Amino acid sequence: MIETMSDTAHLNVGDQNIEIPVITGTEGEKALDISKLRNSSGLITYDVGYKNTGATTSAITFLNGEEGILRYRGYSIEDLAEKADFLEVSYLLVNGELPSKDDLEKFKKKITMHTLLHEDTKNIFEAYPTGSHPMGQLMAMISSLSSFYPGSLNPYRENDERMLSIIRLIAKMPTMCAMIYKKQMGHPVMYPKNSLDYVENYLHMTFGNVTEEYEVDRTIADALDKLLILHADHEQNCSTSTVRIVGSSHVNLYAAVSAGVAALWGPLHGGANQKVIEMLEAIKADGGNYQKWVDKAKDKNDPFRLMGFGHRVYKNFDPRANIIKDSADKVLAKIGIHDPILDIAKKLEETALNDDYFKERKLFPNVDFYSGIIYRAMGFPTEMFTVLFALGRLPGWIAQWKEMRDEQQPIGRPRQVYTGSQSRDFVPMENR
Ligand code: ACO
Repeated sequence: MIETMSDTAHLNVGDQNIEIPVITGTEGEKALDISKLRNSSGLITYDVGYKNTGATTSAITFLNGEEGILRYRGYSIEDLAEKADFLEVSYLLVNGELPSKDDLEKFKKKITMHTLLHEDTKNIFEAYPTGSHPMGQLMAMISSLSSFYPGSLNPYRENDERMLSIIRLIAKMPTMCAMIYKKQMGHPVMYPKNSLDYVENYLHMTFGNVTEEYEVDRTIADALDKLLILHADHEQNCSTSTVRIVGSSHVNLYAAVSAGVAALWGPLHGGANQKVIEMLEAIKADGGNYQKWVDKAKDKNDPFRLMGFGHRVYKNFDPRANIIKDSADKVLAKIGIHDPILDIAKKLEETALNDDYFKERKLFPNVDFYSGIIYRAMGFPTEMFTVLFALGRLPGWIAQWKEMRDEQQPIGRPRQVYTGSQSRDFVPMENR
């Protein structure tokens, strides 16, 4: 039995009465601080999937899943998506405050100066089999930066060295992402163009080619910039927790972020945006009977789930999905394409939102549902979708890694409840 009294909770286990401090965050969230529980009682807590475990305090992102609130450093996602650009948001996440005009100009200038990759990087790229998944390549490219910039290896280096690693990573990420795309397409790599802004440059390196100048379409560039902002951080999600736990061993930033990319790759996390389009294509190939697939998703004997629906923390609506839905409409209207896949998406959305199964379980389209649709309309192949998520999430990973290092947090090392065999005698081979 556990009862909470002001800022101390009392836990009764057998005849033991254990006092547990209650900590309170700036938005009134309360947590039992069990960090000393094992010392005083021999007990650990058990929570598979960390569904109810606070692994850290953090001053970066606040989200309230019940009310659909998301704020970076106190600023609402709605304001940031409408009024800031991605590099401004990156500065905010990494440094904690909005930049002055001068700070932002200097930050952008530094990023622009570091967009080129070392020419030897091409050798690494050439060794990849054509058609290998872009996320695997991205992980390898990011961690290879530690070889090109050995100054990054010691995360205890003074701040300037650490900031240089951060700037390099933000600057080179679009170049790496575009290079991966070009390799997929079998096209020559485009070098960055420093007269363009961050997102324009990425579009130029992706969709531009050596035969003609790429003309930036502002609707597309603005929508992509917004998408990156919406993905920039999401507190202690699977990939961010991975970056923190890997970084807690004092490995360098590039290795920690590369691990975050691996975690993001999975279809239950960032890989969902690719799975959304694959699902829509499968429904189309099956004759477009979306109701059949909704029924499959509801059938408990069928492992199929509607990709892009539901969320671990948002249980009423995903504030990012509301913003992105508007962008999706604008992009589709601007590009003026007719795509049967998008018709199926609209019908699925409508059906699921009006179906009791989805309503009761609070399953609604999440950010990945709409982002997949926008990326497809922009012309990105599905395998690149999660790479775009990684491009957006990068400043969040960096900010969380930096916060953890600044606070000198201990190495992450969860406990377990052992359920295997008790001690037994070894049986020699001839007796087995
Ligand atoms: N389709 C059908 N049923 C679903 C779906 C879905 N997409 N998502 C959840 N459910 C059902 C579950 O079967 C369960 O039903 P039950 O209570 O009858 O057993 C109930 O809803 C709760 O589901 P959980 O898996 O317990 O919810 P959880 O919070 O653990 O999972 C998750 C959240 C992983 C996102 C889940 O909704 C899912 O698998 N969605 C599809 C994948 C996806 O879109 N992932 C992207 C997430 S957003 C992001 O990473 C940026």
